[in-house]
Amino acid sequence: MDHFLYRNGQLHAEDVPLAEIAATVGTPVYCYSTATLKRHYRLFTEALSPLPHLVCFAVKSLSNVAVLKTLGDLGAGMDVVSGGEYRRARAAGVPGDRIVFSGVGKTREEMRLALTEGIRQFNVESEPELRALSEVCVSLGVTAPITLRVNPDVDARTHEKIATGKKENKFGIPISRASEIYAEAAGLPGIDVVGIDVHIGSQLTALEPFEQAYLKVADLTQRLRAEGHDIRRLDLGGGLGIPYSRSNDAPPLPLDYGALIKRTVGHLGCEIEIEPGRLISGNAGVLVSRIIYVKQGEGRDFLILDAAMNDLIRPSMYGAHHDIVPLAEPAVAVQPHVYDVVGPVCETGDTFARARPLPALRQGDLVAFRSAGAYGAVMASEYNSRPLIPEVLVKEDHFAVIRARPSFDEMLARDTLPPWL
Ligand code: LLP
Repeated sequence: MDHFLYRNGQLHAEDVPLAEIAATVGTPVYCYSTATLKRHYRLFTEALSPLPHLVCFAVKSLSNVAVLKTLGDLGAGMDVVSGGEYRRARAAGVPGDRIVFSGVGKTREEMRLALTEGIRQFNVESEPELRALSEVCVSLGVTAPITLRVNPDVDARTHEKIATGKKENKFGIPISRASEIYAEAAGLPGIDVVGIDVHIGSQLTALEPFEQAYLKVADLTQRLRAEGHDIRRLDLGGGLGIPYSRSNDAPPLPLDYGALIKRTVGHLGCEIEIEPGRLISGNAGVLVSRIIYVKQGEGRDFLILDAAMNDLIRPSMYGAHHDIVPLAEPAVAVQPHVYDVVGPVCETGDTFARARPLPALRQGDLVAFRSAGAYGAVMASEYNSRPLIPEVLVKEDHFAVIRARPSFDEMLARDTLPPWL
C-alpha cells in the first residue's frame, strides 16, 4: 500500500496534490511519501519480531539524506556499499553501530573511514578483501566485526542483471569453500568473525529462492559452529520484490517473508539482519513529468515527456515496467488511447513504454510514474547535459525540497579549462 491516491480528481502524495508540487518546484521532479517509507519499514520490523533483529535500509535504493533520516529516526540500520553512502548514513544521524558495509570492492580508504567513524560489521566478499581488511585493522590498532558473504548458488529467478546468488556471479565466497575461508578469517589479526551474510538478488517475486538460500545458511551456521566459530549474527540481505503493475500478481508480503525467516533460521539463536531497499522505498516515490508534445508518428502516437532515461533509467536498462498515470483523474468510462511514452534524449532507448494504453492526454498535461522511489533518482545522470532533477519529501499536508534542481551555471561550473585553452 502507498499514499499516492486520487482525491477530488487529483493525484495526491499524502494530503498534497502533486500538481501543486509540480507548479512550485517544476518538472520533472521525484516526490516521496514519508508515511509510505515509515509504513514499509515497520512492516519488516513487525514481521521479524520477536526475533532480535535490525532492519538495515539498502541506501543504494534511495540515498537522499532526508529519507535516510526519516528511517534512521525510527531506529533503522543502514546497508551501505561505498564511502559516499557511509557518509550519507552518518550525515542522517545514523550511528556507526547501525551501519553494515557491503560490496565486492571496498577500498582500504573506505575501510579506514568506517573503522575510524564506527561500523557494525563489514560483509566481506573475498579472500583478498579479508586480508586487506586485516592489514588496515592492524595498522589502526582496531578489530573489525565481520561476516563473510556466501554465494549459495541459488537461482533468484529475477532479471539477470540483478541476480547475485549464482556461482557465476561476482558476489560472495563459494559456499563450498566456506569452512576453509572462515578458518583463515578466524586466524587473521584484527578480524572478529560474528556471522554469515547472504544476498541472492533483487525484485524477487517468490519466496522459494530465499528459502533455498536460508536453509543453506542454517546448515552452514551449524557446521561453522561445530568448527569452533561463534556465529551469532545472520545478515539475510534484501531483495523482496514489489508490485510494479496493479494488474500483476502481488509478490509475497513482508509478513510471509518474516515467517519464512523464522522457519528457516529462527531456531539458531542468532540476531537477524535484513537489507531491504526496494520494498521500503520503491512505492514510496513517484516521478512527476509534463508532456511536452503529443506527436503523431507512423502508426503510433508518441507522448514526449520532459523526463528522460537519464532521470529514470530502469525501463531502458532492464526493460522495467512502471505504471504511468495522469495527475488529473480520468473519467471512469474513458476509452484508452495507445501511446509510446518517450523522453527527449537522442536515442531510441529513451523509451519508457511502448503501446501503453492510457487515457487521451494533451500537451502540457502532467503524469506520474509510479513505483519510482527505488533505483530512480539514485541512478540518474546528466546525459544530454540535463541537470539532475529535484527531490521533494511530503509529510501529511506539507512538502519540502530535499534536493534542489541545480542551475545550468552550477552544471557548467564543474568543467574547467586546461591552461592551453
Ligand atoms: N543488499 C545488497 C548486498 C544488495 O546488493 C542489494 C541490491 C540490496 C541489499 C537491496 O536489494 P532490494 O531490497 O532493493 O531488492 N538497480 C536495480 C536493482 C539493483 C539492486 C542491487 N542490489 C533495479 O533498478 O532494479
